[in-house]
Amino acid sequence: MLTVTAESGLPERLILFVSVCHRLPLPPGKKKASLGPTERPATALSTGKRVVPQARAGSPTCGRVSGVNITVAGLGLIGGSLLRALDASGHRVVGYDADPATRDQAAAAGFRVATSLPTDNDLVVLAVPLPALSPVLDELSGYEGLVTDVTSVKAPVRDLVAKHGVRRFVGGHPMAGKETSGFAASEATLFDGCAWVLCLEPGETSLADWLTLADLFTRTGSRVVPLTAAGHDRAVAQVSHVPHLFAAALSGQLRDNAPAAALAAGSFRDGTRVAATRAELIAAMCGGNAAAVGAELDRLLADLHEMRALLDQADPVAALVPVLRPDVELRRAWPPTAGPSVDLPAETEALLELGRTGGWVTGVTGVTGVTGVTGVTGVTGVTGVTEGTVSAKRPETDRNSF
Ligand SMILES: NC(=O)c1ccc[n+]([C@@H]2O[C@H](COP(=O)([O-])OP(=O)(O)OC[C@H]3O[C@@H](n4cnc5c(N)ncnc54)[C@H](O)[C@@H]3O)[C@@H](O)[C@H]2O)c1
Repeated sequence: MLTVTAESGLPERLILFVSVCHRLPLPPGKKKASLGPTERPATALSTGKRVVPQARAGSPTCGRVSGVNITVAGLGLIGGSLLRALDASGHRVVGYDADPATRDQAAAAGFRVATSLPTDNDLVVLAVPLPALSPVLDELSGYEGLVTDVTSVKAPVRDLVAKHGVRRFVGGHPMAGKETSGFAASEATLFDGCAWVLCLEPGETSLADWLTLADLFTRTGSRVVPLTAAGHDRAVAQVSHVPHLFAAALSGQLRDNAPAAALAAGSFRDGTRVAATRAELIAAMCGGNAAAVGAELDRLLADLHEMRALLDQADPVAALVPVLRPDVELRRAWPPTAGPSVDLPAETEALLELGRTGGWVTGVTGVTGVTGVTGVTGVTGVTGVTEGTVSAKRPETDRNSF
């Protein structure tokens, strides 16, 4: 049971549960209604007539975040996909991008697009590259609503946000993407089933804001993983940033090497897929997380050095097998299967423990307490949490926990 405090002072009892499991069923129809050329919105904040799909229906005890007024800043692969997904979930979304050509593309696709960053809303999602965050945060000076981001590294963003004095912030990172960039590559279904990290800093992050975003993003089909910024940065260094560097180095095998290029097949393709990402984005990801990436790269290099040394032994095959076997087993056991549903307290420590042990939230479906008004335009949501319980699922093994 969860008690929330209403800023409005108008108590209203409701039931809300945070359900947590490991296999989120794909949400129903998220297709965006397309517009004809005559309905195309103008480039300035448009009032173009669009058919907005209904918000996804929930049970009477569902989370309460619906019809939210949202700005998505940055309309590339991730921001454009989010614009599409949030729009398809029935939210009132407006996009903004510094690049006029990108704005035109989004407007041509039927979305509301602004020529400057709109702040008359409840939520701003920052979907710009890390180096562009600071100027965008300058534009948010004095903003009263909730702010989140999608940046691939979290500790530097946390520092930036503190420096800019952002009042309400929950860092985020959808573990979704592909090698292509820009609005043209965006898809409404990009986040289906993906892990979406929402940072939860003890004594810092508002649990109510965290639950509001967990509700919002689970409704776009994501599995929300509660982690601290430091825990996130260590984990993504291990499974995303170091693999990007490794893939880039592996791609170097092709340099002046026509025979290797002719023979390269599955192993090369799978091991180097992410090396096709724009170099600037890889550099921003790794450079922005330099300490964690450095430590994890050192660990990987030590493993590779060990394997290299085994190749010099009299029987390298016999020497390598016991070293390789545990790694092979780990890979075969990934991804972990879901365990049974359990109930958890909807508290910061319980949620962080869930994230540390490989679990995730699949829906905010109930809170017991009072509702209030959050944000600038008065979206109804959870405004304060003092106690409660949540439903959860855990992996059957903890082999992939971090
Ligand atoms: N690409 C991925 O796989 C992936 C996955 C998860 C998170 N991310 C994160 O998402 C963010 C965006 O990445 P992306 O892949 O969508 O990049 P992208 O290059 O496709 O899009 C970035 C967009 O931001 C716009 N932009 C730049 N500066 C701006 C400013 N000051 N104001 C407004 N708009 C501005 C650009 O014009 C561009 O349209 C990055 O922080 C990245 O770390 C990327």
